[in-house]
Amino acid sequence: MSELCIRGGKRLIGDVTINGAKNAAVAILPAALLVDGISEIENLPYIDDVIKVKEAMEGLGAVTEFIDAHTLKVDASTVYDYNATQDYIGNIRASYYLIGALLGRFKKAEVAMPGGCNFGVRPIDQHIKGFEALGAKVVIEHGMIKAYADRLVGTKIYLDVVSVGATINIMLAAVLAEGTTLIENAAKEPHVVDVANFLNMMGAEVKGAGTDVIRIKGVERLSGGKYSAIPDQIEAGTYMMAAAITGGDVYVRNIIPEHMYSVSLKMIEMGIEIEEGDDYVRVIAPEILKATNVKTLPHPGFPTDLQPQMAVLLSVAKGTSTIIEGVWDNRFQYVDELTRTGANIKVDGRMAVVEGVSTLSCAKLAATDLRAGAAMIIAGLRAEGGETVITNVKYIDRGYETIEKKLAALGADIQRRPSKVTEEDC
Ligand code: EPZ
Repeated sequence: MSELCIRGGKRLIGDVTINGAKNAAVAILPAALLVDGISEIENLPYIDDVIKVKEAMEGLGAVTEFIDAHTLKVDASTVYDYNATQDYIGNIRASYYLIGALLGRFKKAEVAMPGGCNFGVRPIDQHIKGFEALGAKVVIEHGMIKAYADRLVGTKIYLDVVSVGATINIMLAAVLAEGTTLIENAAKEPHVVDVANFLNMMGAEVKGAGTDVIRIKGVERLSGGKYSAIPDQIEAGTYMMAAAITGGDVYVRNIIPEHMYSVSLKMIEMGIEIEEGDDYVRVIAPEILKATNVKTLPHPGFPTDLQPQMAVLLSVAKGTSTIIEGVWDNRFQYVDELTRTGANIKVDGRMAVVEGVSTLSCAKLAATDLRAGAAMIIAGLRAEGGETVITNVKYIDRGYETIEKKLAALGADIQRRPSKVTEEDC
């Protein structure tokens, strides 16, 4: 168990390079199970969730090998099992992609119920609706989701909610189905497009990813190849906000700036200068930030996965801001913990009202989930009066590669150490 210790007040200056996207990686890896051969996936972030998915795939018979820290070779021709019961499977959300991939490949899948960050109820009814529409019988028993089909046949599927997971999972099940599948009201996130591009590179026929309607013409088999995952929009946004809260001047590199528009434009409303290049943004922050209003929405809206980080930034902006959480029922659980720094945030259901304060103070904070943990780090970068100590770092390690090293390279005073600090240290 480790914790992160931050002495706030240092202005972040310099360059940070963004890794591949977690939420693309954890879907592309299961998608590689559909390939009857070898795929080589580059630009994978070296984070806990990726390692867990890799281990799960090995448990099913795939042979994997890291060519370098960010490139994994997957030979899925050796996959023999359709039953993913390992304990760790239940701890990550993305384990649900194993269902789509195994169902697509073997027409049967048995996978432990997915876990992941707790934002209230996280149903998977739209995934199941999609599998059933393709001809599968799906049952949930003894903590397992079990799906079986004699054959999968393409059809039209309308998603009742815009769901990233359901869109990708149905794509995975449909690429090897007979005939054509249409997913209506599909999610348009960059990682949905990335998975479609990966599948197409391997021989699938997926069109329309990135729009509301995805059309998948089933093919008989997918064969191997090389693919590079897109950069992580959420990691990039996290560093943009970290830079901004310190009044910093940071180049966030190796990104797709178009993926950042909703974030960049909100930051510009706050008085932050955003300079855009081909594959970077430069964030130049003033000393005083302006309040604004944010509503999280499916892409191309403001991403829910940057909502906690934005809440921290707004907590030191001049004036009153509002945040409406438009994706999850309960994604403000971190607020109680954050108010220990003096942040003034009041939550009412899916809305938070943030009264800007001029300073945050150091505190001991327990990360409540992945992005909340990132938000707490951002608070620590600004906090005065000593050391901010963040525990439950395991959540942060699920999604950010060497976050303390990247921030330290920008000038932050941040260290990882074994967890044993008490309140008195602050
Ligand atoms: C993905 O989760 C991401 N996780 C989440 O990122 C992200 O917050 C979320 O998409 C929204 O962008 C991964 O990609 C692994 P959804 P997912 O299905 O796919 C409702 C992070 O921090 N819904 O798009 O599970 C659901 O309750 C993580 O990196 C149904 O009602 O999210 C929610 O309100 C956290 N029925 C909304 O749809 C369903 O069958 C969007 O969920 C599925 C979802």
